[in-house]
Amino acid sequence: MKPIVLAADHGGVTLKNEIKEYFLTQGYEVQDMGIQEDESIDYPDAALHGVMEFLQGEYSFGILFCGTGIGISIAANKVDGIRCALPQNIFAATMAKEHNNANFLAFGGRIDYPEGVIPMIEAYMEATHDSAGRHGRRVAKIMAIEDLGEE
Ligand code: RB5
Repeated sequence: MKPIVLAADHGGVTLKNEIKEYFLTQGYEVQDMGIQEDESIDYPDAALHGVMEFLQGEYSFGILFCGTGIGISIAANKVDGIRCALPQNIFAATMAKEHNNANFLAFGGRIDYPEGVIPMIEAYMEATHDSAGRHGRRVAKIMAIEDLGEE
């Protein structure tokens, strides 16, 4: 599998490092776009570090972390080509791939999730997206929104 991009602000860095450790122990390659524990960054900048690396490289998907996951996912979704999901449980993480073909997940380091973040990530990774069916049509409609106003 191609490497996974990780990026965080100071609200998500501890969770990012936990997830990085998980991936490494499982044998996955990660591209850690920071920050590190003693640093601080505005979440839109952290989002850009993650998504621009993803778009310029050969990666499977990316995961972004801030305090809530909200700000960093909003920022990521401003960039053409990015579909960043903010799953709240395992079901939503599965749907993020099956229905939305998300290429990024976002999580909050200050959120108490009802189910673990690692099981959510695993559910996303195990799911598949059917681009030939109705879900593919709907994702294509999402991406067509990027072209509105460009004529
Ligand atoms: C940073 O304090 C915090 O605002 C950020 O991590 C995130 O929660 C924003 O959505």
